[in-house]
Amino acid sequence: MNHARFLIVGASGYVGSHLRAALGREFSIATYNRTPISGGVHFDPVTMRLSGTILRGAHGLTHAFLLYGMSNIDECARNPELAHEINVGSLKRVIDDLVAAGVVPVFASSDAVFDGSRGMWTEEDAVNPVLTYGRHKARGEQYLNQKSCPWLIVRLAKVVSTAPGSVDMLGDWMTQLETGTPIRCAYDQVFSPVDVDDVVRALIRLSEGSFSGIYHVCGPEPVTRLELLKMLVDEVHKYRDVSAQIVPCSIRDFDFAEPRPLNTSMSPRKLYAGLGGGFDDMSVVCARAAAQRYAR
Ligand SMILES: NC(=O)c1ccc[n+]([C@@H]2O[C@H](COP(=O)([O-])OP(=O)(O)OC[C@H]3O[C@@H](n4cnc5c(N)ncnc54)[C@H](OP(=O)(O)O)[C@@H]3O)[C@@H](O)[C@H]2O)c1
Repeated sequence: MNHARFLIVGASGYVGSHLRAALGREFSIATYNRTPISGGVHFDPVTMRLSGTILRGAHGLTHAFLLYGMSNIDECARNPELAHEINVGSLKRVIDDLVAAGVVPVFASSDAVFDGSRGMWTEEDAVNPVLTYGRHKARGEQYLNQKSCPWLIVRLAKVVSTAPGSVDMLGDWMTQLETGTPIRCAYDQVFSPVDVDDVVRALIRLSEGSFSGIYHVCGPEPVTRLELLKMLVDEVHKYRDVSAQIVPCSIRDFDFAEPRPLNTSMSPRKLYAGLGGGFDDMSVVCARAAAQRYAR
């Protein structure tokens, strides 16, 4: 018997794989495109329709997490047509099919919908993306916003993980600290990073409750990239004697395809009020990441 209530489109990705693990295979249908996952369903949103595949006939699904897309910011800038087809064109068809089938779309947007000119952006603030990736996210939001049925837009901040062996920003930094590799790190990029476990909890709580609308899914405090690295170094030092070679620099010194917005920190107030509590701040998350990796 099929008990699946949740569809995860993009379950082979970073957030999707954590969400699938938390929901359990019995209660979710998980799709992948180029990266097969055990028990997953192949679905290419560009060439296939949900209406002709997963949503055909009785399905029992209530919510669909839309976590797929071209998520690399520079790749979107270098291949804007392809990125648009994946991140906007196919997304619209996926949303249409879900709405027609009575399934609530939960779209993973991004703090990149903001221009970075100030910070602590709220859900009421106007979006003004300066990146191709951010413009595509804003178009997806706009499309969903016009639908009269229930929907959720979750604007994710930079997602980090404390799992040992995780290949993400914290894991990469710890590897660089261990090998003595110099780390160039921006003192002027501000964001509100969030632990992937908190992201997953928020996604599940929002979809299990009667929530609808836009939510900022982010950590409690804005932090610069350099401050975050220093927090992590302090925690690593509790376990290992690493000689951190940190090279402070401006985010403008990196050779990105498009200049990054400076301050995309978001206010989590609406989310935390809805959930009845907030997330751990980055000092706690860094402590956990170091402990998971080094504590015996
Ligand atoms: N991680 C973050 O810090 C962060 C921050 C803000 C917003 N977000 C957004 O949150 C969502 C999930 O992020 P993530 O970090 O989990 O992304 P990710 O690890 O890059 O995963 C991307 C997912 O999209 C799928 N995908 C990529 N190209 C595709 C294509 N052409 N057709 C169909 N599927 C395709 C991948 O499937 P296959 O590999 O199987 O092809 C994978 O499941 C994304 O929309 C991202 O933009 C993430």
